[in-house]
Amino acid sequence: MSVKESIKDRASKIDVSQIPLDEIDVSNPYLFQNDTIGEYFKRLRKEDPVHYCANGHSGAYWSVTKFNDIVRVDTDHKTFSSDSANGGIALDGPGRRGGENRRGVPDMGLSMFIAMDPPKHDEQRKVVTPIVAPANLESLAPIIRERAAGILDALPIGQEIDWVDRVSVELTTMTLATLFDFPWEERRKLTRWSDVVTSSPGNGVDSWEQWQQELTECAMYFKGLWDQRVGGEQKNDLISMLAGSPATSNMPFGEFLGNILLLIVGGNDTTRNSISGGVLALNENPAEYAKLMNNPGLIPGMVPEIIRWQSPVVCMARTAMQDAEVGGKKIREGERVAMWYLSGNRDSEVIERADEFLIDRKNPRHHLAFGFGIHRCVGNRLAELQLQIIWEEIIKRYRKVEVVGQPVRTLSALIRGFTKMPVILHPL
Ligand code: HEM
Repeated sequence: MSVKESIKDRASKIDVSQIPLDEIDVSNPYLFQNDTIGEYFKRLRKEDPVHYCANGHSGAYWSVTKFNDIVRVDTDHKTFSSDSANGGIALDGPGRRGGENRRGVPDMGLSMFIAMDPPKHDEQRKVVTPIVAPANLESLAPIIRERAAGILDALPIGQEIDWVDRVSVELTTMTLATLFDFPWEERRKLTRWSDVVTSSPGNGVDSWEQWQQELTECAMYFKGLWDQRVGGEQKNDLISMLAGSPATSNMPFGEFLGNILLLIVGGNDTTRNSISGGVLALNENPAEYAKLMNNPGLIPGMVPEIIRWQSPVVCMARTAMQDAEVGGKKIREGERVAMWYLSGNRDSEVIERADEFLIDRKNPRHHLAFGFGIHRCVGNRLAELQLQIIWEEIIKRYRKVEVVGQPVRTLSALIRGFTKMPVILHPL
């Protein structure tokens, strides 16, 4: 049996209570693809909230599964490093100081500010933050609305379509193209590069050579745009911002490409999967869908609830820089620690009725889907804005966006999402 088949096989064991605790490996991506992961997290939160896995799909690592323990790790960036030199933020990344890369990803020397510690992280983050300043969001809102309306108006009624491709990917790619001031007709290149980053041979690309080649094309394309904009009049797009700031104007190749990819993936995969996840959640909870249709005023609270429910970034990893205690467990210097946001977002000790999707819950922004601490998502308000607008436009047009077949989930323990979601639109 190949390794791939055996982890797939392990993922299909549904009776989680029968698995010995020390054999539980929540980094197995098939648990996310077949959507059985919830039972595993439930058991860990109950029996072993800070859990050690000695020999998992992603090597040896600790899992932190409860809300407050995740906040504890995420806010202590001095003890728990994000720096790629110490292991970085992807659980299946190369581990501490150049250890084995579990996914087999070729080393392109990528470096990005999400995988840096202060002071460099803070300096680079500051460069792009103005893109999501309230005034900028205000000017983006009518553009996003016009696009959302255009996308929805072009959809056929009463006929099966793929919601992921026709709506979620389309809207988020358009927004991203605007943030970069990217050539409009070529915007689907952004979607492709975003997908390639999280691909591996047989899962999105044919080989690591292809992976490397496509990302090099991405770097070259952005280098072309960069060269056109550098030294020009300072414009309000991400490339001009990076090119115009001393903290980012002279980045080496790996850092240049790394930060571009961070902004592409950060703004794309996450929001797109929240848009699709919201459609599924409302279909699975018809009483909530009815509440929405009776009271569109619920949309502002529904949006963060959708993001909590979907938790499109499942996990971020850290490396302990010194011995530390979390939830009564001793974590040793050098060990890898996974913060499972999806699990923290189902912790009923902190979130009331956490296992239920409720579009009118009190305090819906109290969730972990955007992380916590100095790396908390830069784009959180922009993500919410896109969801808010698309739902306002959806309910103006359709009585129901009906999911008519099994959605296909992404094979990943990092991004929780969908590659396909068949729907039929029912007009008002
Ligand atoms: C629903 C949508 C989104 C979710 C759930 C999400 C989630 C996250 C999470 C979990 C982190 C890491 C937090 C941590 O380590 O504490 C993060 C960081 C980041 N996100 Fe998002 N994100 C979303 C949308 C966006 C958008 C629209 C953008 C860009 C415009 C964006 C850009 C970034 C960037 C640049 C970082 C790195 C921040 C840093 O290291 O300081 N995200 N996001």
